[in-house]
Amino acid sequence: MEANSMNICERIESNVRSYSRSFPVVFTRAKMSKMYDENGKEYIDFFDGAGALNYGHNNDFIKRRLINYLESDGISHALDMFTEAKCEFFECFEDKILKPRGLDYKIMSCAPTGTNGVEAALKLARKYTGRPGIFALTGSFHGMTLGSLAVTSGKTVRRGAGQTLGNVTFVPHPNSFPGDSIAYIENIITDEYSGVDKPAAIILETVQAEGGVVVASEEWLRQIREMCTRQGVLLIIDDIQVGCGRTGKFFSFERAGIIPDMVVLSKSISGYGIPMSLLLMKPELDVFNPGEHNGTFRGNQLAFIGGKAAIEYRERFGLEEAVEEKAKIISDFIETRILPLNSKLQHRGLGMIHGIDFRHVSDTEDVAEKVAHECFANGLIIERAGPNDCVVKVMPALTIEKDELMKGLEIIEAAAKKFL
Ligand SMILES: Cc1ncc(COP(=O)(O)O)c(C=O)c1O
Repeated sequence: MEANSMNICERIESNVRSYSRSFPVVFTRAKMSKMYDENGKEYIDFFDGAGALNYGHNNDFIKRRLINYLESDGISHALDMFTEAKCEFFECFEDKILKPRGLDYKIMSCAPTGTNGVEAALKLARKYTGRPGIFALTGSFHGMTLGSLAVTSGKTVRRGAGQTLGNVTFVPHPNSFPGDSIAYIENIITDEYSGVDKPAAIILETVQAEGGVVVASEEWLRQIREMCTRQGVLLIIDDIQVGCGRTGKFFSFERAGIIPDMVVLSKSISGYGIPMSLLLMKPELDVFNPGEHNGTFRGNQLAFIGGKAAIEYRERFGLEEAVEEKAKIISDFIETRILPLNSKLQHRGLGMIHGIDFRHVSDTEDVAEKVAHECFANGLIIERAGPNDCVVKVMPALTIEKDELMKGLEIIEAAAKKFL
């Protein structure tokens, strides 16, 4: 290795790298909610692989299943052929996730990352309805490939497309719209003179994570569901970041009691940070012809093994109840120990995803950036989100120990005190 092993990455890796700029060390190992760098320094992880590590790093329960599978020479790659690993995952997902919730979905294994699942959902909605248009919400983030980028609202990342991103109409997120956003959206759909054709689907995150932890209300989610049904428009929920138990229940939309037409899952679905993306669809929407949407790495076998273990772990260790308890700790801490530091701070969140919004604190300083950097210097990995990255996003693993959680929150408090 080079004297300073970071040099090789800085020298050879594309300028597009991003998280290594926020956390400029070389990580060597990780266990549950702790990461360690090459100098042995320990960090508490409040970033959680952007939501891909809900069960922690190297969770022993899941790891054991993966090791056993590898040692037994289980199939490692099989395109979308039937495999034992896939059959067992589907069986477990149906029995423990779908059936208890009364959900009747077919499952499509998409190419491995979240954006691939979103692409599949958009393409399927267009094929099923014969309509090219999609509605997306302001503040949304759905991925970086061209279809997903078209429904992503951030101008900086959209510019990276280098081409027109079409067939998408952005409609206002209810939290940033002074009036009745449902009436507004329905009016665009029904008014012959709105200039906008009826869309195939509306795609949304129930909690906009990259958008700065913006939580749609249960009432609004029910209203948009009803409106979509009234207008014959499909409702796609992108549960890539806030699904898999992040908000408490397995799916983030359960709190509203709604049933989307399609759901996209990725990030933590494999339980171990192994790439996997799934599209759930109501049976009548299953209209792709065999092979019409394809990909070599659909259905990662290790992800199926990890995914089944993760669902079982969730049940066995009462993760839903644990999230409820830790969510309260996070929320109470922010409300009582961080918000009082400055009257212009804002807090939003649900379950174990929370945002501390520094937007209104200073016109001249990027306080959120300074706070996040200070946290890292003091052994906490935490990222920013939202407009101008002004929201510090608190997103620990659902499995984090309470003392680690408190320690991480205290590091944020100390950093915020320093700059407020
Ligand atoms: C809500 C949401 N959708 C889609 C994506 C894209 O997933 P991926 O980066 O795996 O392509 C992300 C990633 O952060 C996300 O948060």
